[in-house]
Amino acid sequence: MTTTPNLPITRLNSTEDIEICTKIFSNSEPWITLGMDSELFIKILSDPLNEVYVLKVEKEIAGVVVLQMQGPFPGYVKAIVIDGKWKGKGYGRLLLEFSEQRVFKESPNVFLCVSSFNDKAQPFYQKMGYQKIGVIENYLISGLSEILMRKTKGPVFGYNQTDTN
Ligand SMILES: CC(C)(COP(=O)(O)OP(=O)(O)OC[C@H]1O[C@@H](n2cnc3c(N)ncnc32)[C@H](O)[C@@H]1OP(=O)(O)O)[C@@H](O)C(=O)NCCC(=O)NCCS
Repeated sequence: MTTTPNLPITRLNSTEDIEICTKIFSNSEPWITLGMDSELFIKILSDPLNEVYVLKVEKEIAGVVVLQMQGPFPGYVKAIVIDGKWKGKGYGRLLLEFSEQRVFKESPNVFLCVSSFNDKAQPFYQKMGYQKIGVIENYLISGLSEILMRKTKGPVFGYNQTDTN
């Protein structure tokens, strides 16, 4: 178990930070293989329907998470990344746990998709308590699948928003 200090996680709020986050995403797998370029990330990071949070370590952006709280499956982690040198130090756990707390304030389910070839993120999500719901074949790219995963606190009906422990 890695221990992490309390670090600032804040809402993405400047054009400069959008550019930094765009670089972090577009230079990382799985998005390189998926062919997701800078233009697409600028769109995602600027979309007011997404909630984007950044984790700063030593004043640098070390991680980014994009959450979707609208739509038929609210509480969807659209993308999460820890930048190169900060990986494997507990920051991914910190950012995902922060995202879960955010989602559980409104909804009992956190959903995410992980690419079939992303064999590093899959054990990370399993470790974080996510369960496989199903496989969506040929979803983003022909021949590749997305694995839909969920962490849940129980059914939607009767969910007590204050019970977030
Ligand atoms: C996946 C990712 C977010 C994980 O972040 P991280 O900071 O490297 O992970 P952490 O150090 O917080 O690890 C958290 C836990 O998961 C475990 N874990 C992380 N990666 C693992 C791996 N590849 N295999 C097994 N366990 C792993 C750690 O051992 C740790 O366990 P612990 O808390 O009990 O010690 C990060 O590696 C990343 O940005 N990858 C590239 C982008 C990506 O694939 N994003 C997901 C897209 S769906």
